[in-house]
Amino acid sequence: MKQTIADKVKTRKTFAIISHPDAGKTTITEQLLLFGGAIRQAGTVKGKKSGKFAKSDWMEIEKQRGISVTSSVMQVDYDGLQINILDTPGHEDFSEDTYRTLMAVDSAVMVIDSGKGIEPQTKKLFKVCRMRGIPIFTFINKLDRDGREPLDLITELEEVLEIDAYPMNWPMGMGKGFLGIYDIYNNRVELTHPEQNGGNDFLPINEDGAIDGDFEITKSSTYTQAMEDVLLLKEAGNEFSEEAIAKGELTPVFFGSALTGFGVHTFLDAYIDFAPSPSAHKTESGEIVEPGKEELSGFVFKIQANMNPAHRDRIAFVRICSGEFEPGMDVIVNRTSKKMKLAHTTQFMADSRENVKSAVAGDIIGLYDTGNLQIGDTIYEGKEPLQFEALPQFTPELFMKVTPKNVMKQKSFYKGIQQLVQEGAIQLYKTYHTEEFILGAVGQLQFEVFEYRLKNEYNSEVEMTPMGSKIARWIDEEDLDVNMSSSRNLLCKDRFDHPVFLFENQFAMRWFEDKYPDIHLTALL
Ligand code: G4P
Repeated sequence: MKQTIADKVKTRKTFAIISHPDAGKTTITEQLLLFGGAIRQAGTVKGKKSGKFAKSDWMEIEKQRGISVTSSVMQVDYDGLQINILDTPGHEDFSEDTYRTLMAVDSAVMVIDSGKGIEPQTKKLFKVCRMRGIPIFTFINKLDRDGREPLDLITELEEVLEIDAYPMNWPMGMGKGFLGIYDIYNNRVELTHPEQNGGNDFLPINEDGAIDGDFEITKSSTYTQAMEDVLLLKEAGNEFSEEAIAKGELTPVFFGSALTGFGVHTFLDAYIDFAPSPSAHKTESGEIVEPGKEELSGFVFKIQANMNPAHRDRIAFVRICSGEFEPGMDVIVNRTSKKMKLAHTTQFMADSRENVKSAVAGDIIGLYDTGNLQIGDTIYEGKEPLQFEALPQFTPELFMKVTPKNVMKQKSFYKGIQQLVQEGAIQLYKTYHTEEFILGAVGQLQFEVFEYRLKNEYNSEVEMTPMGSKIARWIDEEDLDVNMSSSRNLLCKDRFDHPVFLFENQFAMRWFEDKYPDIHLTALL
């Protein structure tokens, strides 16, 4: 029987993986890709170890700084499912990019370092997931090292993130004494040293919660302690609730070690049991677009220029929300009402790209773009215009004046700025009358990446003059009187020519509000 679109959608799981830098996001992603056979060797994702991954300009800066700047998309087949993994930059200066990526997924996996617990960036990213109400799965990593007590970590997770936690498994020891996990969900014990226990990877647990039989591990006090902890959790801990997981109110917690691959398989198997298939999406007019709808629709959540420096390409990442993609099909870009043929598309594997043959809701496709698409654009098939809800933008806090060093190279300067701004790498403002260029960012590193990329990808060196932090507030065009501009605020326009004031500080803004009580000032997110 022919599969319907809705049947195909059910085989999709699309998640983002979030963490504070260095918690092990990349390592766990590699393990997941290994299971699906998408890569053959760990170390291919960052290309640090094997050097096989096609390096591009922007990866150069990631390497130098040891940070992940961009989010990438990977796809892996596992157990009859197609899993789409969206990596996100860990560094807080790129949280806007992460935020947009989280809009394109149906669930999130949060990786926590067992030695460090909840770190600032985890907290921030987690908040975004909570706002979207998507299920969050927690993986507490690095159990092969000595870390904090598991109970302590769970308490912190619940208190700091204000979410209920349900341990799906419980570690038996840590560091050198890490014996394995007591797998509450699967009723078994998973061993780090099967060779010492009759060669079994798993030992079943009986009704009393103990391992049947005489094995090396049953003599260990670590095992007894874990068993007692689990008993206590069962009595005093949260109830397991699939509904609460689906609403993002309860996070299932898994322990393991991504580096040694321990516990990752167990995590993945449980994840696919509970992670949702692609959900419906809301349009600006309040319509709900079901993933099984015949006509294709989707939105651009990310644009990446120059992923491959040899080709100087620009790719718009589209999350498909309904319908089925077929090569060569026509769609309309809602913002411009222009028709577009989806001829050149790409899907992302860990170490290669392939042409997309078919894709449905939940899948991410890359469209080679020559400048027709922007972040937040909706594309749709059929006669009914469609615009999905706007993607959130952060209010920038740091500003820089920018001018080209070489006036002879103005053209590449303008081209570079325009493309990087459309990518959402940075925000662009112009002073209202003199049209000087001002860049706005959430974090300092965005400026550095901007400067680096402009030089390396567009051959344009720039002069950057810091303006420090400012408070950006928008004002309705019809309310604007240019005389409102003073020495304490700078009147600018954003890239859509909307007027915006950059206030020196809170005091300057309050002074303005007192003087013009009828004027409504607005911020972005
Ligand atoms: P990130 O993407 O979240 O930033 O983290 P990444 O996976 O790059 O991991 C950060 C560091 O932590 C890496 O070491 C990695 O090998 C290590 N790591 C990840 N998972 C585990 C684990 O389960 N146990 C232990 N002991 N270490 C783990 P590095 O030395 O900084 O980098 P590398 O040069 O080894 O890649």
